[in-house]
Amino acid sequence: MKVFVLFVAIAVAAWQCHGSDHGHEYQIFPLRMKTGHGGHYIPEVSCQSWRLGVEAHNVIDWKTVPLDCEGYIGNYILGDQYRSDSKTVAREAYYYAKTLNITAKDIWVFDVDETTLSNLPYYADHGFGVEPYNATAFNEWVDLGEAPALPESQKLYKKLLSLGIKIVFLTGRPLEQKAVTVTNLKLAGYNKWEKIITKDTSIYHGKTAVTYKSTERKKLEEQGYKIIGNIGDQWSDILGTNTGDRTFKLPDPLYYIS
Ligand SMILES: *[C@@H]1O[C@H](CO)[C@@H](O)[C@H](O)[C@H]1NC(C)=O
Ligand SMILES: *[C@@H]1O[C@H](CO)[C@@H](O)[C@H](O)[C@H]1NC(C)=O
Ligand SMILES: [Mg+2]
Repeated sequence: MKVFVLFVAIAVAAWQCHGSDHGHEYQIFPLRMKTGHGGHYIPEVSCQSWRLGVEAHNVIDWKTVPLDCEGYIGNYILGDQYRSDSKTVAREAYYYAKTLNITAKDIWVFDVDETTLSNLPYYADHGFGVEPYNATAFNEWVDLGEAPALPESQKLYKKLLSLGIKIVFLTGRPLEQKAVTVTNLKLAGYNKWEKIITKDTSIYHGKTAVTYKSTERKKLEEQGYKIIGNIGDQWSDILGTNTGDRTFKLPDPLYYIS
């Protein structure tokens, strides 16, 4: 009897979830994951929504990862999902690149931090973006020159080189960190590039990353290069002007740079 009542209840619920639009049956979204069993709050669910909002550039200008989301972001970034999300981006970039007829002036712009090199060893020690940014501590880490490569980005880099595409690194790291960045790139297995552009803070002091990167890409085009692709982990890598024929956004729920 109980089973029968349950069956009827489910059937009624299912029937109520169906609507009709011009004769086509459709199902009204039946999941309401706002709250868990008994109305308990599940941070995991809203942290996923927050991350999606970040990646879609709906959530902008945020200073730190929400406190509740440290565990979620830590699991995301150290687990399979970050790698898998990155792989999807790199694969689409390669599929696109393969369709092109490459000329000697074709370049692909790579950002450095969280695109080419990973600062995960630093962020794992600093609350996965929950702690406010500490320039002193972060620069100490960068100056070690020990950041590992992001594996999926590195595969893409190698494939693009094999297609005859020239690589340009365009990073918000300052001129003073150019030498250590070059050393780090080589250590991490990036050995070939057309140019590496670091930020001259005497010119760009107080300017956004969007302005800095747009200006530098414009200079590249004025030098005769054609930006066929552009990849970065920040929206400021791919917004603005002279963005390139196609842009690719890698995941990054750790920090936001405007
Ligand atoms: C590449 O070159 C080939 C041969 O010249 C041509 O058939 C093809 O349409 C070109 N593809 C693109 C994307 O320009
Ligand atoms: C920032 O990092 C430096 C170097 O590790 C440390 O001495 C300083 O206390 C930190 N500042 C804050 C506000 O945590
Ligand atoms: Mg970056």
